[in-house]
Amino acid sequence: MKKLVVLTGAGISAESGLAVFRGSNGLWGKYRVDDVATIEGWYRNPELVLQFYNERRSEALKTEPNYGHIGLVQLEKYFDVKVITQNVDELHERAGSKNVLHLHGRLMWVRSEKNESLRFKLPEDDCEIHIGDKASDGAQLRPDIVWFGEAVPMFESAIEWVEEADIFVIIGTSLNVYPAAGLLQYVKRGVPVYLIDPNPVNDPYGKVTTYINMVASEGVKQLIDELKLR
Ligand code: OAD
Repeated sequence: MKKLVVLTGAGISAESGLAVFRGSNGLWGKYRVDDVATIEGWYRNPELVLQFYNERRSEALKTEPNYGHIGLVQLEKYFDVKVITQNVDELHERAGSKNVLHLHGRLMWVRSEKNESLRFKLPEDDCEIHIGDKASDGAQLRPDIVWFGEAVPMFESAIEWVEEADIFVIIGTSLNVYPAAGLLQYVKRGVPVYLIDPNPVNDPYGKVTTYINMVASEGVKQLIDELKLR
């Protein structure tokens, strides 16, 4: 089976009701990145950071996957599909995707602020964390999110997936954030690269061969047509 590798960003979850980050209605228009998505912000005001992620968790739990996520699962009939996502929601898994790699962590997971291997998944019915909630090493719990300026532990594994791709698809990411956007440089020469996004996106390595200028649900349908599977 050919390998189809997908890189997704916040745009694939937009039709499920989750806000993207950049642009006029983006989360980073309402919150300062430095306050809620950096280790410095965490040290300055951990309560604010916990509140921000408690809200994100409660929002994410109310959402359902859309056809953008579901169409990628349907492609598993024809391809070995691997999804590399920058998203911290788990809508790909909830849609049924078998192989999902989270570059930026997962909302429902928390970890010790001292030891990143001490992590666990929060129960859906009790998923707020507060100051004083401790990991098994006695350290404060923090969201298991990769913040700006932190190492991206899954990056090497993501490179391996990208290097093996026979077809590469980008959906709903502005490609503003590195190292995630840098994954494109590992796409082998000659591999078709589809980019699905309703807005123009700068292609930093000149890799995109086909632009599908649509929202994710429509764009994934179009992709399935273009791949001539039906
Ligand atoms: P952005 O908010 O930067 O980009 C979202 C992209 O989705 C834009 O290109 C939009 O045009 C597109 N979009 C909007 N609606 C869409 C729809 N219905 N269907 C398809 N695409 C749509 O989000 P990301 O690129 O994911 O990191 O941002 C990358 C990282 O920056 C995030 O993982 C997050 C953020 O700061 C952390 O918080 C660590």
